[in-house]
Amino acid sequence: MTVESVKPEAEVRPAAELREPPLAGGGVPLLGHGLKLARDPLAFMAQLRDHGDVVRLRLGPKTVYAVTTPALTGALALSPDYKIDGPLWESLEGLLGKEGVATANGPRHRRQRRTIQPAFRLDAIPAYGPIMEEEAHGLTTRWQPGETIDCTSESFRVAVRIAARCLLRGEYMDERAERLCLALATVFRGMYQRMVIPLGPLYRLPLPANREFNRALADLHLLVDEIVAERRASGQKPDDLLTALLSAKDENGEPIGEQEIHDQVVAILTPGSETVASTIMWLLQVLAEHPEHADRIRDEVESVTGGRPVGFADVRNLTHTNNVVVEAMRLRPAVWILTRRAVTDTELGGYRIPAGADIIYSPYAIQRDPRSYADNLEFDPDRWLPERVKDVPKYAMSPFSVGNRKCPSDHFSMAQLTLITAAVATKYRFEQVPGSNDATRVGITLRPHRLLLTPVPR
Ligand code: HEM
Repeated sequence: MTVESVKPEAEVRPAAELREPPLAGGGVPLLGHGLKLARDPLAFMAQLRDHGDVVRLRLGPKTVYAVTTPALTGALALSPDYKIDGPLWESLEGLLGKEGVATANGPRHRRQRRTIQPAFRLDAIPAYGPIMEEEAHGLTTRWQPGETIDCTSESFRVAVRIAARCLLRGEYMDERAERLCLALATVFRGMYQRMVIPLGPLYRLPLPANREFNRALADLHLLVDEIVAERRASGQKPDDLLTALLSAKDENGEPIGEQEIHDQVVAILTPGSETVASTIMWLLQVLAEHPEHADRIRDEVESVTGGRPVGFADVRNLTHTNNVVVEAMRLRPAVWILTRRAVTDTELGGYRIPAGADIIYSPYAIQRDPRSYADNLEFDPDRWLPERVKDVPKYAMSPFSVGNRKCPSDHFSMAQLTLITAAVATKYRFEQVPGSNDATRVGITLRPHRLLLTPVPR
């Protein structure tokens, strides 16, 4: 972790000089901007930039602040005046618990990051190479030419398998990965619904959808308990994330509690699989939609490998493949909305932010801003070539965020995404089949509604 959060003194203004952020237009009595946000969240978040750098929104009785420029999203993420909290996190609490790294704040969060960080360090990633290779090539042999691939389940499956096999080790994960996939898919669907349509007690009624959600959530927690119990019973202590969690100590040097161990495993497995799975879906969509880039990837892989199967060690030489991954993440960032809560009266860009205020921003809107990107909506991986990348403003492309909450898994994720893209594009071209719908589905992450592809051998 870095200490990026120190504010330069020159930026601190006297409270009297601070302005009230403008109220975004288009609100209606009682509901404020809530209806527009619920109806078309991506378009709503993107147009806020026309109202100001920081704008106020009314969501029912509540005032929420939205930040719309790359520089201010960076300032927000780096400032110690804000913590992780707010509606997004509250709606995820049933899943993530209260004691895992994704929801903790302050000294507990710092301690937890220190525990998990070694498993994600750049020099730890090569040890995961063989598993990533096996899983990436496993996809190409699993898929048969001419068959229809359901990209949602396939992407989820490979993402969960890689996260679970690399970080929690042990053969037992192979059987459990399937169960984990099913439970996670149902839980994430239900969580998003509960976040955007907060019907409170209605979600406790014994309706089929609620029962399915509760069953999936219970199974997910049970699975995590089984994983932890089995590792303990085995007496083994491989050098992995689970061992690090099981032997972690709290601030007083005491072993951390069972609940914290449990919440930590959930907090690492769940964001890890949902985000990677959504990104794989978009990468498969890109390969089908832009065959010219799929061909360039194939050519690049062949020139690097000379025709042998692409491996983990090749990833750093696959420049175009990497640029395709980055460009796919720019236009369809898995994490499209983030929230923070002000812990003190503070300021952002000269605007007054009161203690307790909820602040939201959208990496999706920031990464599509025409002020930051020429031909902003065009899929153009070459914008990431060294001679062009310098035109991209700071923080205009931060899909893993910055500061002390930055995703610990950026290297881990980029390695597997690049390897999977290279492996599948080398063996197949992809075409959408009738019934496929690649329109953007907004949930906790962004993903295609139902992407169905057929692989055509090269
Ligand atoms: C946090 C994105 C993959 C584990 C985050 C955050 C972002 C993000 C934006 C910061 C949230 C915030 O600022 O509020 C992504 C993307 C991924 C990805 C785009 C892949 C395409 C993964 C994977 C894992 C993981 C594979 C684990 C296996 C975490 C954890 C946090 C986190 C534990 C919380 C960190 C903290 O609060 O200190 N991720 N992530 N992520 N991510 Fe990821």
